[in-house]
Amino acid sequence: MQDQKKKMTVAIVQNQPEFGYPEKNRDSVAQMVLERPDPSADLLVLPELFASGYQFDSRAEVEELAEPEKGPTYRFLSELSSETGAVVVAGLPVKRDGGIANSALAVYGKTILASYDKIHLFDEERDFFIEGARPLPVVQTPFGPLGLMICFDWLFPEALRSLALSGALVVAHPSNWVLPFGPQGMILRSVENRVFTVTANRTGREERGGRPPLTFIGQSQIVGPRGDIIARAPADTSVLLTGEIEPAEALSKKVASRSDFFEQRRPELYSPLTG
Ligand code: ACM
Repeated sequence: MQDQKKKMTVAIVQNQPEFGYPEKNRDSVAQMVLERPDPSADLLVLPELFASGYQFDSRAEVEELAEPEKGPTYRFLSELSSETGAVVVAGLPVKRDGGIANSALAVYGKTILASYDKIHLFDEERDFFIEGARPLPVVQTPFGPLGLMICFDWLFPEALRSLALSGALVVAHPSNWVLPFGPQGMILRSVENRVFTVTANRTGREERGGRPPLTFIGQSQIVGPRGDIIARAPADTSVLLTGEIEPAEALSKKVASRSDFFEQRRPELYSPLTG
């Protein structure tokens, strides 16, 4: 922790991708990030599947929009990192052995710090993606330990808890939220793990292949370890949201002088959780 920055700037892109036009969607994200007087940040988080769009119609369509891990979206994120100085976290469909994963990369300069395949697939994602088989990652960054999870993972308390137990102080959470209770629910997740959470969501609507329409609820947010909403975006507009946080505030898990709720855990009594 010695050479860790005290305060850091977090930026979130809340976009409205047009399904099936990754290049166009990447360009519009670049405009949102770089056409500001000072585009610099320490952490920049983009939504889940931010360039491809979300509501796939067929496996063939997923195949067509999926990329190798070091494909065009990685190169874009790497450039964005070099231009902003930020660790950039974003969601994209990645070609793996055995299928396509709904993945997130954390990129710093040319380095992939973390590559995570979503382990809890939501609803129709189960028809199109393979489930991630690796644990949720926590990686060292210039601002301290960063954890990654994707959208629906949030509804599994074990996910964020495992990141916090592995030392994450800040958790990047690329999302395509459609359920209305995500923004409020994440406040409790932040409090019960005493970590900063950075959720990048998208806006707009997709209605493809004669399936029920999906409305994405925006409200990207940065939440602090005491449940404070440091910044929250509106429901229906594309915005670049920023906030300042001090990761070290997430080090202590004490809520009273004799109550450290990580020390007081009783895993030996929680066997249904791991059974
Ligand atoms: C979701 O996991 N995209 C709802």
